[in-house]
Amino acid sequence: MDAEKEAAIESLLEQMTLQEKIGQLTQLGTFDEESDGELIEEGMVGSILGVRGADTVNELQRIAIEESRLGIPLLFADDVIHGYRSTFPIPLAEVSSWNPELLEETAAIAAREASSDGINWILAPMVDIARDARWGRIAEGAGEDTYLASSVARARVRGIQRNDWTDRPHVMACPKHFAAYGLAEGGRDYNTVDVSETRMRETYFPPFQAALDAGAGTIMAAFNEINGVPASGNRWLLKDVLQDEWGFKGFVVSDWESVDELVQHGYAATREQAGLQAIKAGMHMDMHSLIYHEHLAALIEKGEVNESEIDDAVRRILRVKHQLGLFTHPYVDNKLAGTFMLHAEHMETAREMARQSIVLLKNENDTLPLKPSVRKLAVIGPFADDREAQLGCWRGQGRPEDVITVLAGIRALAHQHQTEVVYARGSGVLDGTAEELEQAVSAAVSSDIAILVVGENADMSGENNSRVSLDIPACQQKLLEAIHATGVPVVVVLANGRPLTLEWADANIPAIVEAWQLGVQAGPAIADILFGAASPSGKLPVTFPRHAGQVPIYYNAKKTGRPHMRRYVDADITPLYPFGHGLTYTSFSYEELQIEQAELPLGQTLNVSAKVQNTGTREGVEIVQLYICDEAASVTRPVKELKGFRRITLQAGESTTVSFQLAKEELGFINQEHQFVVEPGKFKLWIGPSSAEGLEGQFEVI
Ligand code: IFM
Repeated sequence: MDAEKEAAIESLLEQMTLQEKIGQLTQLGTFDEESDGELIEEGMVGSILGVRGADTVNELQRIAIEESRLGIPLLFADDVIHGYRSTFPIPLAEVSSWNPELLEETAAIAAREASSDGINWILAPMVDIARDARWGRIAEGAGEDTYLASSVARARVRGIQRNDWTDRPHVMACPKHFAAYGLAEGGRDYNTVDVSETRMRETYFPPFQAALDAGAGTIMAAFNEINGVPASGNRWLLKDVLQDEWGFKGFVVSDWESVDELVQHGYAATREQAGLQAIKAGMHMDMHSLIYHEHLAALIEKGEVNESEIDDAVRRILRVKHQLGLFTHPYVDNKLAGTFMLHAEHMETAREMARQSIVLLKNENDTLPLKPSVRKLAVIGPFADDREAQLGCWRGQGRPEDVITVLAGIRALAHQHQTEVVYARGSGVLDGTAEELEQAVSAAVSSDIAILVVGENADMSGENNSRVSLDIPACQQKLLEAIHATGVPVVVVLANGRPLTLEWADANIPAIVEAWQLGVQAGPAIADILFGAASPSGKLPVTFPRHAGQVPIYYNAKKTGRPHMRRYVDADITPLYPFGHGLTYTSFSYEELQIEQAELPLGQTLNVSAKVQNTGTREGVEIVQLYICDEAASVTRPVKELKGFRRITLQAGESTTVSFQLAKEELGFINQEHQFVVEPGKFKLWIGPSSAEGLEGQFEVI
């Protein structure tokens, strides 16, 4: 921020009354024209959540600018999680592309559409690491791995804040939920988190740091408690670490009423005390609970809060308003939305992102792509012709009528291949009738192959939508088994917002396609993959367990003293599909692992590479992954850690050398003093197609 703007902020602060200052710290979560218009006029509101549409936003902005005493513009916030009107795949699905450039692009499109509708503050990306598939919000994040999630966080913030326009307010990102929200005990949303500081710093903080490094000027505090202190009143987290240690100059917003929830947590006895704890902890803006509005002035009068603490929060909020250009360009052109929403280029990107989000989990006997010998195919299942499910959780302004269903996508391509399509729903999502089942069986037996689209609806994942079972719901499993029993080959296409337990399908069904919830272009993208118009290229950003009893499960677990013990008496310890797994329609070989130095002097960077060859008969994309293991250190290290990945395209027979660099950022860890260090010692290294396979080598840091 330049000196001139800082001076403007100071001069504004000098003119503000205490109530106007508190106003800047207040976000209205809902807006009632009758009562709240007056609050804007009085300068008592800093931000509004969930008001959309250029005309509405411009009118409220006009009141703030023309009718409030100091004319300070408002911030308009919204949850734009995977697209605005053009709905992209759910965030977890997008991450299966391992393609930061494309992730940046979808975030930029979402921001452009949102901006044309008056939004200038996007409450995303969600950067919480999630290792428990029961937790519904696993759908919203980047999966289980810190390295991959940090790269995704950077890409999403860059996209949201690309701001490649000059004629209207810019858009600011808000990484959330600070911190460790994904660690909720038992996968129950909002639940207790008890975690060591070492693990916080090593696993849960880096995606936030990456988002802030990429320029995010705001951050949202989490609902959960951490080690006995709720995040929204946690001074260590919000002040000591975020502001003092990391030098964060932007502002912290609470989650929805999370300041008030300090009372429900049993951390504050009253709403007033909750306000005191939150402001002292470094919470700058209160989302919706109106506690700052009601109690801060009295707390200052009593001498419990110093006005300079309020000034610090106001300064930060005004700084963001300046960064967005709101003082010079407060209004949005009301003709833009009509041009931007569902623009043809956005649809093209949505289709490409949906294709790249698909993970081919299993493909026995090259069942896919569909052979020209398939003359008739049955499309079956509750999600075959369902629009809502493809919008996933946090659909934003996405509308069911914009979605092309799996059935419609298949029909369009089948028509080109002169293949006949029959459809039967076969079952509902959670229950089904004998008649539906019978119709599906007869559709299957009259066909060459059956495509079963099964899984979860949009409300089975996302906020407050945790599950105890990770199974495909029983009625759909019954449908699957009944179609399998006909002897007709089956392809399972999954619609879901989390890893599912698929042991039966894996043992019995020849081809399984993880298609998540893919947004408006779900149908065309899935059809492209099934018919081979595009090859699958996604890799899992989360581990798929065999049983829900295995969670939390993640590839980069610690070693334990008895790694060879079986550990469960009633199940295998291994995952069904490991992190990084994903097949395609060709095959790749890995050879010639090169490690530049067997002994690496401390502080230097190591170059490593491997030759990857397309050994199949068609072009394909491979996501080449680099993992390391620090064999012995002053704090125990995981069995493997992802430290690099590359997406490469190779023609049939083509090969290339894929190179990586391991610098101190990749070789270090958080020690017992919570310092980031690289220690001398032996390392193992793998370059391969997933966390479970790869060429292995060694080196030593000396
Ligand atoms: O941004 C969200 C957050 O992720 C969950 N609680 C509500 C907020 C505002 O809608």
